[in-house]
Amino acid sequence: ERQKKIRNFSIIAHIDHGKSTLADRILEYTGALTKREMQEQVLDQMDLERERGITIKLQAVRLTYKADNGEEYLLNLIDTPGHVDFTYEVSRSLAACEGAVLVVDAAQGIEAQTLANVYLALDNNLEILPLVNKIDLPSAEPERVKQEVEDIIGLDTSDAVLASAKNGIGIKEILEQVVHKVPAPTGDPDQPLKALIFDSHYDAYKGVIVYVRVMDGTIRSGSKIKMMATNKTFEVIEVGVFSPRMTMVDELTVGDVGFVVAGIKNVKDTRVGDTITDAKNPAPEPLPGYRKINPMVFCGLYPIDTSDYNDLREALEKLELNDASLRYEPETSSALGFGFRCGFLGLLHMEIIQERIEREFNIPLITTAPSVVYQVTRTDGEMIRIENPSHMPEVGKIEYIEEPYVKASIMVPNDYVGAIMELCQGKRGEFINMEYLDANRVTLTYEMPLSEIVYDFFDQLKSGTKGYASFDYEFSGYKTSKLVKMDILLNGEQVDALSFIVHRDKAYQRGKVMCEKLKDLIPRQMFEVPIQAAIGQKIVARETVKAMRKNVLAKCYGGDISRKRKLLEKQKEGKKRMKQVGNVEVPQEAFMAVLRID
Ligand code: GTP
Repeated sequence: ERQKKIRNFSIIAHIDHGKSTLADRILEYTGALTKREMQEQVLDQMDLERERGITIKLQAVRLTYKADNGEEYLLNLIDTPGHVDFTYEVSRSLAACEGAVLVVDAAQGIEAQTLANVYLALDNNLEILPLVNKIDLPSAEPERVKQEVEDIIGLDTSDAVLASAKNGIGIKEILEQVVHKVPAPTGDPDQPLKALIFDSHYDAYKGVIVYVRVMDGTIRSGSKIKMMATNKTFEVIEVGVFSPRMTMVDELTVGDVGFVVAGIKNVKDTRVGDTITDAKNPAPEPLPGYRKINPMVFCGLYPIDTSDYNDLREALEKLELNDASLRYEPETSSALGFGFRCGFLGLLHMEIIQERIEREFNIPLITTAPSVVYQVTRTDGEMIRIENPSHMPEVGKIEYIEEPYVKASIMVPNDYVGAIMELCQGKRGEFINMEYLDANRVTLTYEMPLSEIVYDFFDQLKSGTKGYASFDYEFSGYKTSKLVKMDILLNGEQVDALSFIVHRDKAYQRGKVMCEKLKDLIPRQMFEVPIQAAIGQKIVARETVKAMRKNVLAKCYGGDISRKRKLLEKQKEGKKRMKQVGNVEVPQEAFMAVLRID
């Protein structure tokens, strides 16, 4: 019957190996969208985004595909976010599938996220269909890459599809494999409802739209449902599918992927990984795999113009409607005034939110350097979580400090092993393992403090390996470390927003470099500005910004007006990003300086 004709699958890949392009070709091939519609669709979405200030994601699409055997199949293609910050979301999207197309670039071969994604797919018992993409490239080596997939992942590649998503080659072949190799969903329509939430977004008209995969039972409008993690109940108003436009249907039943609208006001009530069940006839237990995820990285966001404070709060409220993992609370800094401490899943998530606030809401920000969450056990025995370095208790009150560690996997050509080892050791990494992938490439595994990754690791990894390294990490737990808080004083006054936490063995060095950096970044003022780094009462480094001698315009000899104007404009431009701290003007870059001091 119907259930036997459903296939639920995802596409997994390392960044840039062609996942989106392949998805587009599949939509085109199955007639879900014509080329022209696809362009219009994209435009539509941008308009909508502008109007409502939200992102509409094409998160799960229902397609119909008439296979070579003459049968018509219902395919649900579920998209997965492609970044380590969102690993948990990826794992829940994969949990909604029975199969995954594994896209590997024919020129690049397997990369760190290829493997990370494969592990997630294997955790969820998915049938994995390898596809070697970009065979049109002159540098493509499909046979070598197939061998790599066999050797490293252990997948049989004798049937691997050789494709060029760009040129539309291999599309039908992969769809045939989806139909014949990915198992149909199992599950029982007569059991109590169990539907997995794998995503949600906020819509200004309908409230929260919940993306679900039904595992058991049936859900229809009028159903009374309960979220098993939060125990909240709702009445279903609409159910439907994305085909790819939102289309209402009578019901979603076993194997179906679609959306549920139930007058839900807050995405925080629809946790990714949670199970929706029937409120009157609940399932005895939820689906496995649910986790409450906590922000890993925090920073302060302050409006440059204090009168933007309320706008900033409104912006965060709006973004939060659609982002269950964003956390924020008001914070006051003696240096920066009123702002917010915000928590993010990782650095990319942080950058996305910062950029949206500035672009979509037009609020120029000062952002403080990102910090991880430290667990501090005080001498009175209480453990507190420190999300802001300036809140670290004084040394005498600290029994010990723990910091988050990650297990990092770095994949590189042999030639760079030495460089990577040096880099990781410099970042307090502990060597775990080195594994040869083939004659030319290795995977290095290190356990490292997350804070060291937050501090400039990506850039150094890239520059140290000419871009050949790929990298992935997962949280591995808290460990005790010998950490101290470093304070920065400008003109004798401590600037709370510049405090940072550093390992004791690196403290002097970092304090010194930080002062040097700040000296370069802080423009000359009318008076001399001493910059000092201190641990507790002890000054460990000092630099001085000399007083300004002449008017800037004096630099322009003669009466070259255009040049003068340019200079003034440049100054004005610089001003936008300045914050008056005490009587010193401090540019945005100064607050990020700590990230660049290795
Ligand atoms: P993220 O969205 O960043 O994760 O990347 P992705 O994996 O979705 O890759 P995307 O589809 O955006 O493709 C990355 C780049 O590769 C784009 O510039 C594509 O045009 C190009 N590309 C994709 N498929 C092919 C192909 O078959 N051949 C060639 N030559 N280029 C391709």
